[in-house]
Formats: sequence, structure tokens, C-alpha cells
Amino acid sequence: MPHFSLFSPLRLGAHQLSHRVVMAPLTRMRAQQPGNIPGEVNARYYAQRASVGGLLVTEATQISQRGQGYPATPGIHSSEQIAGWRLVTDGVHAKGGLIFLQLWHVGRISHRSHQPDGRLPLAPSAVKPAGDALTASWEKAPFETPREVGLDEIPSLVGEYRGAASNALAAGFDGVELHAANGYLLDQFLRDGTNRRTDRYGGSFENRARLLLEVLDAVGEVFGLNRVGIRLSPLGTFNDMRDSDPVGIFSHVLRALAKRSIAYVHLIEARGDERALDEGLPLDSGAAPTAALFRPFYPGVLIGAGGFTCESADEALAAGTVDAVAFGRLFISNPDLPLRLKLDAELNSYDRTTFYGGAAQGYTDYATLEDLRASESQVSELIVELAIDQIGLSKRPQDVFLQCLRQIFARNILGGVASVDWEVVRLLKTRH
Ligand code: FNR
Repeated sequence: MPHFSLFSPLRLGAHQLSHRVVMAPLTRMRAQQPGNIPGEVNARYYAQRASVGGLLVTEATQISQRGQGYPATPGIHSSEQIAGWRLVTDGVHAKGGLIFLQLWHVGRISHRSHQPDGRLPLAPSAVKPAGDALTASWEKAPFETPREVGLDEIPSLVGEYRGAASNALAAGFDGVELHAANGYLLDQFLRDGTNRRTDRYGGSFENRARLLLEVLDAVGEVFGLNRVGIRLSPLGTFNDMRDSDPVGIFSHVLRALAKRSIAYVHLIEARGDERALDEGLPLDSGAAPTAALFRPFYPGVLIGAGGFTCESADEALAAGTVDAVAFGRLFISNPDLPLRLKLDAELNSYDRTTFYGGAAQGYTDYATLEDLRASESQVSELIVELAIDQIGLSKRPQDVFLQCLRQIFARNILGGVASVDWEVVRLLKTRH
């Protein structure tokens, strides 16, 4: 069945999208070293996934060295990184696509090895996350208790976001998305499991949302608020997150965002929690329960993400709980995902082992439909040649016969051509 609603246009702040299939931010840990600089291979990856009027959100990108938490993630705080990202934005724009940069500070999820001065990572409060960090040398090491960021340091933290947004503008991005989800710095300030402050950045909903809104205003001064989106995961538990009243704090945040004309809010379904995805746990049912819960607080453009299929995306769009849907893992393995969904074509499956780190394998080598069709026609030619050899076929076989031949070959692919029962092929030929 064709899927029309995902393919209707959408006004997204300052931009006009021609369809609603968004590429979710996806960390792939393949920035050039040293310097965490995007390069040609990254530019190819994003250009492959661009489509006319389609929105891509980049992988999370650290706003400063202090904000880094994993090896080989790209940054947006050096002139080399700006030049590297320019390759990416040029490639996407050449295909008529739009691209937002996801601005990231991991807060307590970092490790000393990523810190410029070898100091402890910073966080709203000295609350240690459960689990392990990934060090600069790709080793697991237990998280340490972070140091509480001083009140006097907050303006420079906001300044890091502002500087990163200026760099993103210089690199040619169409907008930025603030990563305020998945247990990273801005999320750590929002939730009371990680924010125990007693100053104006802790305690009440208003105080806990203060840093996010200050950062939003700073970044908005650079790009215009209508080119800024925000990603939230209100019910997510990834990175050891919790809150005593998630509906309270996040409805407060969404109400505050609704008063500003930002480009969009990007909401992650609880089932799209990265831990659940990593462990391959079954998804809960329903088109978009998290979005349905929070929709009443935010009338603007809402992008849903987390475990969507084409069908559940359509359902959520039809119900009005989301206005667009971001796909993550399916975009990793299907560079031409919007086209495939539009044609209701078969999807490539993804290889989890190549998600993080490495080079082109599992990154830029997933086939497009066009590649598959080209190789299919090559396979057909090969089958014809083999059949001519083996049974003296004199002319191009009819389609039905070709189909049968294909099936025989597919079944024998492991045993090789030698295991094909040519008597069966001969018999088939007499029938067609
Ligand atoms: C992610 N996700 C993610 N989210 C985010 O906000 N910034 C990021 O950099 C990443 N990185 C990332 C890497 C990989 C390999 C995966 C699988 C996921 C979460 C992602 O954007 C999305 O919300 C989830 O993948 C759920 O959507 P799907 O995959 O079910 O469509």
C-alpha cells in the first residue's frame, strides 16, 4: 500500500519540507583523527541519505572539548571541524536536502580521558551515573562522580553553545537541534535524579528548565529561533536517568517552548530508549504513546522518533500526535529510505556490529534500490549465460522461466552452480 501522508509537505519553522521522513541523529564515531574532524567519507554518508526537501539531523556533535564523551565523535569548535562540516552541508545541499546539526554536551557521561585538562567531567550535581564510560582509547571504565558546575561557570557554558551555533552557521547548516535528551547535559539539568542544585538552576521546574531556555535563546540569536529544534526524551532511562515527576517537568518545558516560535520539538518514544534498542527488546504497541501523552502541551511541529515503521508512522500522523517521523536504524541501512517508503519497497536490514567506529563498511556501502536493480539485471544476464552454456538455450528466456531459474539459483547459492540440478532446468524449459 502506498504511504501518502508521510509524503505531504510540511512547514518547519523557516523551512519547507517536501516530505516528513526525517533522518534521526545517529552517532557513528567515524570522525577523522586527530581533531574529531568530519571528512570525505562522512560527507558521502550524509549526501547518500539526502533527498529533495528532506531533513537530515546530524549525529550528536560536541560543542567543546569538555562536551565530548565518546571516541571519534565530531566536534564543531575548531576551524578544521567547520571546514569538514562544510563538505557535508555542500553535499546535502547539492541534492536539494536540508541538514540540521545536533549540538551536544554529554555532561557527566564523559570521562577524564576526553577532558582537555584531564579533570573530572562536569554536571549539574555530583551524582555518578551507573555503568561505564567509553574512554578516548575505546576502553570501558566505570563512570566517576562528576564535579558540580559552578554558578559562575554557567555563562561560559551557554557561551559554548552560542559559539558552536555560530560555527554551525559558518559551516552552512540550515539549523541546529539542541540535544536535550538521552541523559546528556541539558537533560541532566532538567531531571531531579541528576539535578540536586539549590541555586536558580535547580529545584523548581522553572529553575531546572532555565539552562535549556538560556541556551535556546543564545542559539536563537545566532540562527533565529525558527531554525532551532530541541530533542527531548521525557520517559527515557538511558544513561541512568530518572525523575520523580516526568510529566510535570516535561509539560512545563513543552509549555515554555510553545511560547517561542522554534522550528520543532523532537520527542523520543520511551520504547526508543537506546538501551532497549541495543538489547533488541520488543517494542511496545501503539503508534506513538509518548507523543500522544505530551502532544496537548505543544501545538507546534512535533517530530516523533523511536521504533517507528512506515505503518505506525502513518498511524501517528493520521492521529495528529506527530507531524513528521524521524527514522534511525532504518536510515543507517537504507540510504534512500524516503524513496523506499514511498514505493513500499523492501528494506535492507542493518548490521548492529558496524554502528559505532570503523570506516566505510556498514556506513557508506549499503545498497540503494538503484544499486539493487542494477545488480538484479546483471544477475539475470548471468543466469541467461549459464543456461545457454548448460542446456543450449538459444534465445532469451521468457519472464516466467527466468523467475524459475532465479529461484533454482537462489536455493543453490550456497552449494554453487555445480549443485544446480540441470535436469530440472531442462524439464522447466520444455514447459515454457
Ligand atoms: C542513536 N540515537 C541518537 N540520538 C540522538 O539524539 N543523538 C545521537 O547521536 C544518537 N546516536 C545514535 C546512534 C545509534 C547507532 C542509534 C541506533 C541510535 C537515537 C536515535 O536518534 C533514535 O532515536 C533511535 O535509534 C530510535 O529510532 P529508530 O532507530 O527505532 O528509528
